[in-house]
Amino acid sequence: MIPQHFIDELLARTDIVEVINGRVTLKKQGREYAACCPFHGEKTPSFFVSPTKQFYHCFGCGAHGTAITFLMEHDNLSFPEAIEELARLAGMEVPREQGTGERAEDHRPLYDALEAAAEHYVRALRHSHEAVDYLKKRGLTGEIARDFRLGFAEDRWDGLISTLSPRFDDKTLIEAGLAIRKEGGQVYDRFRGRIMFPIRDTRGRVIGFGGRILGQGEPKYLNSPETPVFHKGQQLYGLFEARKAATRLEQLLVVEGYMDVIALAQHGITHAVATLGTSTTRDHLERLFRVVPRLVFCFDGDAAGRKAAWRALEQALPVMRDGREAAFLFLPEGEDPDTLVRTLGAEGFREREATAQALSDTFLDGLKARYDAHTREGRAPAGARKARNSSGPCPEGLLKTQLVNDLARLCAVSPEQFARQTEAPRRPRPAAAERGRSARSAARAKAPQPPGRNAWP
Ligand code: GTP
Ligand code: MN
Repeated sequence: MIPQHFIDELLARTDIVEVINGRVTLKKQGREYAACCPFHGEKTPSFFVSPTKQFYHCFGCGAHGTAITFLMEHDNLSFPEAIEELARLAGMEVPREQGTGERAEDHRPLYDALEAAAEHYVRALRHSHEAVDYLKKRGLTGEIARDFRLGFAEDRWDGLISTLSPRFDDKTLIEAGLAIRKEGGQVYDRFRGRIMFPIRDTRGRVIGFGGRILGQGEPKYLNSPETPVFHKGQQLYGLFEARKAATRLEQLLVVEGYMDVIALAQHGITHAVATLGTSTTRDHLERLFRVVPRLVFCFDGDAAGRKAAWRALEQALPVMRDGREAAFLFLPEGEDPDTLVRTLGAEGFREREATAQALSDTFLDGLKARYDAHTREGRAPAGARKARNSSGPCPEGLLKTQLVNDLARLCAVSPEQFARQTEAPRRPRPAAAERGRSARSAARAKAPQPPGRNAWP
């Protein structure tokens, strides 16, 4: 817990212009400063910073806040991390109150252990012919291994532990996800006989690992478990590296695997990131859209890939504010970005990436595939209503308006007719007294609603 008076004092000593100017080039304009908004893509500046009010505001996407929110949004920091960063700039020490809240300083031993582990794995890779051969066979160079800090966990029960202790105690190694305690109390290495992929947060700190078995074996990939510093549903592999490789990122390519990210980077395509063996979450998307205005999702061209694309689309719709773009790239069956970039080369892959299908087209195609758009009966009334409900989570804006217009055209009616005909049937509003009383029964009544409102068909 950080005391409020400290936060007030910190903000009073901080100049928001200085903080933002270190990250976005600001131009003085009257009493304020202007820039192209870092939170959405634009060519003319609608992002303003007020030195008197110590606020920023974007007239394009509505982003606004203080130096703290700016750091959280722009640098992907948590609240305590943003405070830490500002305190560092202001030369102040963050005091802590005892509380139940998560304390950033508590995690320092975990970060230190993870960093030490990454160094250990890199050293071990240099000493393993087998592991180096494996990477070479997969077409990777020493430079790319260095850029991604690839390492190797020897096939031993205590390769890591024996190196890291006594500097780190068992408890820390277990909490960092690096070691496991047996029932008898003995502690052993989690990762053994695997190529190690350190996962770094946006500041470059190692927060976890993915490990791939050399050759055949189960499981093929092993990830760090959830720990106080590692949350799979939020983190993306390669985001730190992608930001480091580019002076200005325009878009990110979301792929499935660690090796996809690395093989693409090996070919000079450095804007790929991967989810960590989970499907794409809302958190992922928010995080990515803070970095770039456009995302391209890569999926297998098979039925499973199409299904996964729908899931991603479903997560994406609610965050598709105007100015944000998403597109879907379906790969030929049996290929992943790793194999494809090898056959097509960088140029070929880029060309293919440019043909990614816009989210709105994937959306309409998917609906057409689900409802028979060729017959009047298929289009009306249930199909049309569900279609409209599917676009419901999309924020109001130009994209949504266009989607609704397209849906209307698909049903061969005017947008007004479409809106009227697909309106949910109005239920009479209960009187105020009854509303209060029936809150619980209303909640119950909500449950069995027909699919549609938010659910995808
Ligand atoms: P390579 O075979 O090394 O090229 O990997 P790949 O990325 O092509 O593998 P695949 O398509 O099978 O898996 C994609 C991603 O899913 C991986 O990068 C992992 O993040 C995850 N994954 C795959 N297999 C496993 C597994 O056995 N366990 C877990 N937890 N994750 C896995
Ligand atoms: Mn692969």
